[in-house]
Parts: sequence; C-alpha cells; structure tokens
Amino acid sequence: MEKPNLQDKRRVLIASANPLYGKGLEKLLAQKAAGVAYEIRIASTMAETLNMLEEWRPDLVIVDYDDQTIDRNQFLNQFIVGDRAMQVMLVSLKASGAAVVYDRRTLSPDQTQDWLQLPIDSQPLQSRAHSQRSEGMKHFIIVAVLVAISTVLVNLLLQSIGLLPVEASTQAAIIDRLFDTHFLVISFLFSLIVVFLVYSLIVFRRRKDGDQEGKFFKGSTRLEVLWTILPLVTVIYFSYLGSLSLAETRKVDPQALEVKVIGRQWSWTFEYPEFGIVSDTLQLPVNRQVLLKMTSEDVIHSFWVPEFRVKQDLLPGENLVKELRITPTIIGSYKVRCAELCGTLHAYMESPVVVVSDADFQAWVDEEVKLLNADPATRGERVSKQNGCLACHSVDGTRLVGPSWLGLYESQRELADGTTVVADDAYLLNSIIKPNVQVVAGYPPGVMPQSYVDSLSETQLSDIIAFIKTLK
Ligand code: CUA
Repeated sequence: MEKPNLQDKRRVLIASANPLYGKGLEKLLAQKAAGVAYEIRIASTMAETLNMLEEWRPDLVIVDYDDQTIDRNQFLNQFIVGDRAMQVMLVSLKASGAAVVYDRRTLSPDQTQDWLQLPIDSQPLQSRAHSQRSEGMKHFIIVAVLVAISTVLVNLLLQSIGLLPVEASTQAAIIDRLFDTHFLVISFLFSLIVVFLVYSLIVFRRRKDGDQEGKFFKGSTRLEVLWTILPLVTVIYFSYLGSLSLAETRKVDPQALEVKVIGRQWSWTFEYPEFGIVSDTLQLPVNRQVLLKMTSEDVIHSFWVPEFRVKQDLLPGENLVKELRITPTIIGSYKVRCAELCGTLHAYMESPVVVVSDADFQAWVDEEVKLLNADPATRGERVSKQNGCLACHSVDGTRLVGPSWLGLYESQRELADGTTVVADDAYLLNSIIKPNVQVVAGYPPGVMPQSYVDSLSETQLSDIIAFIKTLK
C-alpha cells in the first residue's frame, strides 16, 4: 500500500456536523503540536467523511461521538475493512471529553459494539453506566409492580365472569380448587407477557430526535437456566397437585349407593341393584356417595353432569365397566349429557338427574318398588300420565285433542281414508308408534308426537295398552 507522501505532516480528519467542535479541536491541536506538523481537514457530512477517508487518506480520524448524524455502523464498516494503518479517535464532549482510540490494524470486528456504548475508560462514563443500571432497576421494579397488580385484576375478572356452573358435589369442590390455582397462574403469565410488551412499547418507543439503536446482548446463561427451571418446577408441582386431587375425588365411601349406568345410542338407563329398580331418571339422595358402574351397549359415550364436574367414558364390553364416584351436595335438578361424539343424536343424549333429600329418595324408591310389583294396567296408567298421553286422550269419554280411550279397545274405528278397523292390540301399538298411519276420521293427522317409538320401552308400551284395555 502506498504510504502518505509527507511523513512529517500528519493528516487529521475531524468528522462533526457541529462547526464549533471542529474549530475547537483544530485550535487545541495547534496549541499542543510541539514540533509535529498537522494538516487538518473538517468533514461535516457522512458522505464527505467517507469520501475523504478514501481520497485523502488521513492518519487520524477524530469522530464527534455526540454527533447523531454520523451513521456509526456505516462509518465503522469503512474504517475496519481497509488495511492501511490509521487511527480513529472517538471523542465525546457530552461525556466530559471522554475519548477512546482505535488502531485499525489491531481492531477486531466485535469491538464495533463499543460504538454503541460510550468509551469505558473514563470516570464520568462509569457513573453514567451506573446510572443506566439503576435506571434499568427502576423499570424492572415498575414492571414487577404492574405485573402484580394486573395479575390480581385479571384473576378477579376471571373469577367474576363465572365460567363454571354451580358446584354441586364434593368432587366439584376439589376440581374447582385446582381450577382456581390454574386461573391464578394463567393471570400471572398473561400479565407477565402483556405488561412487559405494553410497557416497552410505550416507555422505550423511538423518540422523534433519537436514532440510536437498542443495546445488544448475545445471551444470558442465568436467564436461560431460570426460564427453564421455573416452568419445569411449576409444571411438576401442578402434576403433583393434579394427582392429589384425582386421588381425593376417588376417595371410597363404603356406604356408597350403587347405580348401574347403561349408555346407548342415544339414551341412558339407570339400574339400582339394591332395590331392583330400573329408571330413565337418575335419582340421587343428597350428601351420600353414589358409585356409578358404567357400561355402553354400542359405542363410546361419556357420562357428564357439569355441576358435578367429574366425567367418565362408558365403553362397550362387559368386562370394561368403568366406575365414577359422586357425592351430590345440593338438592336440585340437573342433566346428564353425553360428552363423547357418538352419532347423529349425540347432542340430544341427555337424561334428568334429580338430587333429593333422604326422605324423598326413600319415598321415590318405595313408589318405584310398589310399581314394580303392580299389575301392568296400574303401571300403564302411570306411564300415560308421565308421558303426557292423558293431556290429549281422556279416560271418561270427553273429546279432547285426540280420541278418548274410554271404550276404545276392540271397538270399530272409522279411519280418515274411509276404511274401518277393529282397535285390537296391534292397532293400539301402531297408533302410538306410527300415529300418522291409521288416522281416525274427524281428527287431523300430524298432531300426535311421533317420538314415542324411541322414548317408550316395549314394557311401557304394553303397559299403556293394558291400561287402555281396562277403560270400558
Ligand atoms: Cu353418547 Cu354422545
């Protein structure tokens, strides 16, 4: 490389948009220059500086560190790439004349980061670094307080929305306690992210007069260890809480009432082996544990009463009986629904669940047992009442929406199509399950529900017919 042609004259380039800066330095150098001849030039724009760097080839470049118009990255790239011996001096007047000198030959690229910070070897700058640290601490404390406040508020909001239905079993209380703890953690994580984000967007936004780039750091082992260990410990702790809660919901009461639950597409049946009762309603005494032994007749269903919280799949197969323990705590009417997609009418696979006092439960059992031993006609009368038959069909000959049942059996029926038929067992059954096929003259078709074919069992149908036979 070509050497500067005048060895005794040092070329100094001063880069600053501030004319006072250049003039001041020029004067200073003239005073200090004992026997050294200087040739000084001043560049006030970036382009000018880079141009002179190439054309004029200075020995020393003095850069106004406080000058924001100098693109430091661009300048430094130019400064580093060449192989000609040259020094660069960064001088900051704002930082009480702090200066640092780089030698191009010995500069390594990662030293370029120094350009984003102030020189480190000066006293006032150390105190500035210190104030930056305490500034950082101040932000951290503010954010920590905001995160804490936000956590409390978000948690209160979530609690007040009332995401869960009434807590109607002992098991529900256990599940809800776990749920509340999760909500607290969710509120905290939400706040941690959102508060940091919003705070940074507002406080560290780019100001109108600033074009400084953000501080860069490559990695922090301490931070990485922290954000690996903390979530790990939290998750392990929650799995511990979860297993404790699971064990608690399964606590066995030897006095538990046993009920067999059978699920099928798309209805539920409940059997009480202790009493021999079969019911389509799940009747439960309050404050007594019930042990549900569940099985499916076809596909997988899932027993779920939201107010009781716990849920259990029903599997087809006799040796795949699943158990679920529930202790209802609030008297009231609920609904069991199927929580496993099981076909067309999955959404409608629900049955009433009635929680009653001990005395009412005993009364229900007595009534069911009495009925069990009753004759078919008595059972049929009850089924007719329960299913709304008697709202449209009188038993005393009065004309209601549908034909009266009095004297119906074995009578001659005139149908809407002009034919005549005898009201025997087959006719009665057909009229219940396919009400629009043999419509009696004088009564409009399409009025009677067509759903009894699904909702009534064979026994119930024959019981109703047995009841109709008694009405002579
Ligand atoms: Cu049964 Cu869904």
